[in-house]
Amino acid sequence: MSATEISIILPTYNESKNIWSILEHIQKSIPKNLRAETIVIDDNSPDNTAKIAEDYFYSIKEKTSHTINVIKRKAKDGLSSAILNGIQEASGNTIVVMDSDFSHPPHIIPKLLETLKQTQCDIVVASRYVKGGTIQGWPFKRKLMSTVATKIAKIGLGVTPNDPMSGFFAFRKKITDGVKFDAIGYKMLLELLVKTKGVKIEEIPYTFTDREFGSSKLDSSVIFNYCKSVWRLYKYGREVRQDEKRTSVRFLSKAARFFTVGASGLGINYLASMLFTLSSDVWYLHATLMGIVFSITSNFILNKYWTFEDGDFSTKRTLIQYAKFTGFSSIGALVQLGMVYYLVDELNILYPISLILAVGTAAFSNFVLNKRWTFREKVWS
Ligand code: GDD
Ligand code: MN
Repeated sequence: MSATEISIILPTYNESKNIWSILEHIQKSIPKNLRAETIVIDDNSPDNTAKIAEDYFYSIKEKTSHTINVIKRKAKDGLSSAILNGIQEASGNTIVVMDSDFSHPPHIIPKLLETLKQTQCDIVVASRYVKGGTIQGWPFKRKLMSTVATKIAKIGLGVTPNDPMSGFFAFRKKITDGVKFDAIGYKMLLELLVKTKGVKIEEIPYTFTDREFGSSKLDSSVIFNYCKSVWRLYKYGREVRQDEKRTSVRFLSKAARFFTVGASGLGINYLASMLFTLSSDVWYLHATLMGIVFSITSNFILNKYWTFEDGDFSTKRTLIQYAKFTGFSSIGALVQLGMVYYLVDELNILYPISLILAVGTAAFSNFVLNKRWTFREKVWS
C-alpha cells in the first residue's frame, strides 16, 4: 500500500450535528488518486462527537482507502492546540486544516491541493479577504472584530496574506520541522506564518458561511488569547529582528514603524479633538490643541516602545525624551510649513505636490533627529 499523501486535520468540540456529514463531504472531495487520512481531534465532547466519527469510519472502512483517525483528548485544550496535536499525528506530507461545522466548504480542498502543487508554494490560505472571497451570516460586530484583528496581525506582525486569521489552509508538513509552537487560542495559521517567514504563500478565495448547527466556541477568552498570542509572536519577531545583520533592513524597518506611528497619530489627533468638542464648554481651538497634545504623547510612547524598542520608562529619562520628542515634532512642523511656502511661492510647484514633498521631508527629518538625539542611536543602524 502506498504511503499517505494528504492529512486533513479536523478539530471538533460538540459537533455531533455536523461531524457525520462533514466527514462524508470531505471524503467525496478528496481527489480519488490521492491517499488521504482525516484526523479528528476531539476534546472529550459531551455530545459524543468522537463516537459518531468512529461509527462513520466503521461504516465506510471496507469500501475505501481513506482512513479516519479519531484522537480523543481528555480536556478542551483549545483549537490551536488541537490542530498542533493533529500535525504531530499526521503521516501525510501535505496537511489541510479546516473547521468541522461547514463554515469551510470541503469542495475547496481540491483547489487548495492543486494550488500547492501548481505554484510549488508552501502554504495555501483559503481566504475571505481576496477578490471572490466573502463571509456569509456573520453579524456586523463579528465582521468588525475580524477586520480589526486582521489589521493588527498585518501591521503588528508583518504577515503578508490578506486573511492571516483564516482557519482554512493547506501546507507542506516539512516547513514545520524544528518550529516550536505556542498554540495558544484560535490562530494557528498566524503562528505558522510568523514562525516560517520566507516560505512561499498563495491565497485562494472562498465563501465563509456561518454554521447552521451547534454554536461557535469563540468567546471572550478566545479574544484574550488572541491578544496574548499576538504579543508573544511580536516578541518572537523582535528577537529575530535583533539578529538581523543587514543595517539597511534594520534602518528601513524602524523607519516603517516610525511612519506607521505617525499615521496612527493623525487618527488619534482627529478622534481626541472630536471627543473634546462633544462637551459644549470646550472651545474648538482648545479641543484642537488637546488633539495635538494627545497625538504627540501617543506617538511618543509608541515610538519609544515599539519603533526604538526602549523599554526603560524611568521618570527622568522618559521626561527628557518626551521633551526632545515634542521639540523635534515642532521643528518638523516648522520645516513643513517653510518648505510648502518655498515650493509653492518660489518654485511654483502645485500645492498638492508641494505638500507631499514637505510632509515627506518633515517626517523623514523627524525620524532621523529623534533616532539620533531622543533615543540616542546611530543614524545608520
Ligand atoms: N478539539 C477542539 N478543541 N476543537 C475546537 C475547540 C477546542 O477547544 N474550539 C473550537 N473547536 C473546533 C470547533 O468544533 C470547530 O470545528 C472549529 O474548531 C472552529 O470553532 P468555531 O467555534 O466554530 O469557530 P468560529 O466559527 O467562531 O471561528 C472560525 O472563524 C475564524 C475566522 O475568523 C474558525 O474557523 C477559526 O479558525 C477562524 O480563525
Ligand atoms: Mn464556526
